[in-house]
Amino acid sequence: MTFTLSNCKPALTGVVSLLLASFNLNAQTIIPVETANNAMVLQVAKNKDLGIVYFGKKLNNQQEYIQIQSQYKQPEDYTNQLNSAYTSSGSRNLVEPAISVTHADGNNSLDLKYVSHDLKKISDDVSLLTVLMKDPVYNFEVTLYYKAYYKNDVVEQWSVISNHEKGTVTLQKFASANLHIQAKSFYLTQYHGDWAKEMQPEESKITHGIKTLDTKLGTRANLFQPSVFMVSLDKPATEDEGSVLYGGLEWSGNFRTDLELDPQDNLRIISGINNYASPYALKPGLALTTPAFWYTFSDHGKGDASRKLQSWARNYKILDGKGSRLTLLNNWESTYFDFNETKLAELLKDTKKLGVDLFLLDDGWFANKYPRNSDHTGLGDWEENKQKLPNGIASLVKEAQNNEVKFGIWVEPEMVSPKSELYEKHPDWVIKQPKREEYYYRNQLVLDLANPKVQDFVYSILDNLFTKNPSLAYIKWDCNAVIYNAYSAHLGKDQSHFYVEYVQGLYKVLERIRAKYPTVPMMLCSGGGGRVDYAALQYFTEFWPSDNTDPLERIFMQWEYSYFYPAITSSNHVTDWGRQPIKYRTDVAMMGKLGFDIVVSKLNSRDLQFCQDAIKTYNSIKPIIWQGDQYRLANPREGSIASVLYLDEAKSSGVMFNYLVNNRYDEKSRLPILLKGLDAGKKYTVKEINLYPDAKSRIDGSKTFTGDFLMKIGFNPDVNSNRTSVVLKIDEIK
Ligand code: DGJ
Repeated sequence: MTFTLSNCKPALTGVVSLLLASFNLNAQTIIPVETANNAMVLQVAKNKDLGIVYFGKKLNNQQEYIQIQSQYKQPEDYTNQLNSAYTSSGSRNLVEPAISVTHADGNNSLDLKYVSHDLKKISDDVSLLTVLMKDPVYNFEVTLYYKAYYKNDVVEQWSVISNHEKGTVTLQKFASANLHIQAKSFYLTQYHGDWAKEMQPEESKITHGIKTLDTKLGTRANLFQPSVFMVSLDKPATEDEGSVLYGGLEWSGNFRTDLELDPQDNLRIISGINNYASPYALKPGLALTTPAFWYTFSDHGKGDASRKLQSWARNYKILDGKGSRLTLLNNWESTYFDFNETKLAELLKDTKKLGVDLFLLDDGWFANKYPRNSDHTGLGDWEENKQKLPNGIASLVKEAQNNEVKFGIWVEPEMVSPKSELYEKHPDWVIKQPKREEYYYRNQLVLDLANPKVQDFVYSILDNLFTKNPSLAYIKWDCNAVIYNAYSAHLGKDQSHFYVEYVQGLYKVLERIRAKYPTVPMMLCSGGGGRVDYAALQYFTEFWPSDNTDPLERIFMQWEYSYFYPAITSSNHVTDWGRQPIKYRTDVAMMGKLGFDIVVSKLNSRDLQFCQDAIKTYNSIKPIIWQGDQYRLANPREGSIASVLYLDEAKSSGVMFNYLVNNRYDEKSRLPILLKGLDAGKKYTVKEINLYPDAKSRIDGSKTFTGDFLMKIGFNPDVNSNRTSVVLKIDEIK
């Protein structure tokens, strides 16, 4: 993976002499970070600056990387810093830094010079490059990490910042990664949102200056903006064409990504923990490890990039990414806070009747002095409410067993209600400004996870539940409030560490939980999709994309989430949101991990039968949805039909979901929809599945088609206002 020009002199002949001449015969170390299709190439300059000389499709001959820059005649960079692999500030740099420090003597300068690098093979697929950088004046080091996942074309980048000086160094900015990309132009796809409106995409051409994507919410940090984004090179990428980079930060708190179109018209991307209100005091002898920034790149469009990312996520990032998941019945929207043992006993029977794996008891089961009968009270007091549950959770778990279903429970362990015994006992555990009025989000406050005692408390909530109920099979971990009035009584004068230590504290708790309970599935929820990233998904098996479960809205949201997260992580519940029939709602929820949150006893017999059959159907196709490749066939933003195909690895079985997303007169699937990913030489049947019990399909499932036909001519699912949702099963004829 590495060569120096002086090393490879004999093999490079003419090229070498030319390049050596232009570099005054000094050795120029080239360090390519390569994956199956791509390369990010680092170069050590004569003065030991580390720059990025190439980002894009990899070259067949590594030795030609050295020639790339000679082909660019862009305006001169008189700082020689614009392409820095980790831009420091206070010396020659004039643009946005990745790192900015104040030394103990008050000096603000940093100049990082290459010292050495090392490449380790972790497995046949994964390698880890480390590059050590050091300031020649101050005893201060940064090690850059590049973890390359070869097959999936994914790279994770982070930095370890080490203070070997005698005094404390304040890190004013401490990014994880710094990229430098050359192209004719750049187009950013970013996401914004709010409660029930998550993952709204916006695409725009990147203009000169800095575009910052960030959050300052502290927790449920993605409510207005997640860290995931796409950048298309030269022109906006489409599903199957164009060059596109996807990126995101593995951090569940404040993040900041700067995209700067620099004076040479190149794009600099710098991503890391948000330095907002967070100058980090790094004591002598200590090091700060920044979270990983992941990215993938494809020159075959958004679909290819997302399939590679999804595969990487299942293989390497998500807890139990290759495993199974539980279907469930949740009681939130059917009871809210109003339930008791008798009601729950009925719901447990309904769980069995419906045919799902698990009953999930939601909010409202706890607190006695200030019972959790509304969202104003009780958070923090995690004993069963004696009025609602006189026999405790244990009796419900037993009752679930009697019904041959599993039992799961909702918690919101990071939070506290102002009206709670916890608040009364430990006001110093609560994040709030000591002398200011309290300000609530959903009538609650956040606990100070920077405090180890609070970490112990949060851990004990889960540990107690599991200890008392060893067969507890599922946790929904909610997190509804953002952080206002950020102040930690525990940190005292070190408030600038608060936002960082909150997230570190959260991860410490999750580490402990996973050390003792490694496999129990946990859903990452925050009143919707405020909280999903690839750091959190190392502890959680799934996430809750949005409280908005109107299937029409979900088609659009799930579409956008799916660029970044595989279907196995997407908890989709059938609820009473929206005006679509139960089939439409169920079909949409099937494109992920299926659950229900409806009053089963109120379903008419046809709808109940449909749901029961649908769960059986889902159980037979879920491996394809969870582990297969996803192909987006018809974009709901571009027409009246949405269509998505999941295809198994062998290209022999697929499930194609098709929806009408426009209710205007006579809207229908007029044209066949082109399938993708099939084997052109194979023959397939296309059958409609997931029909109402009394319905007959208009599709003749006995016909056969070659993959060639289905990919060149396509297939018409016959979607119209009478058939607004159509699921097709595609099977190879063997
Ligand atoms: C917000 C979640 O998104 C809902 O599903 C539900 O669990 C409520 N919180 C409970 O308070």
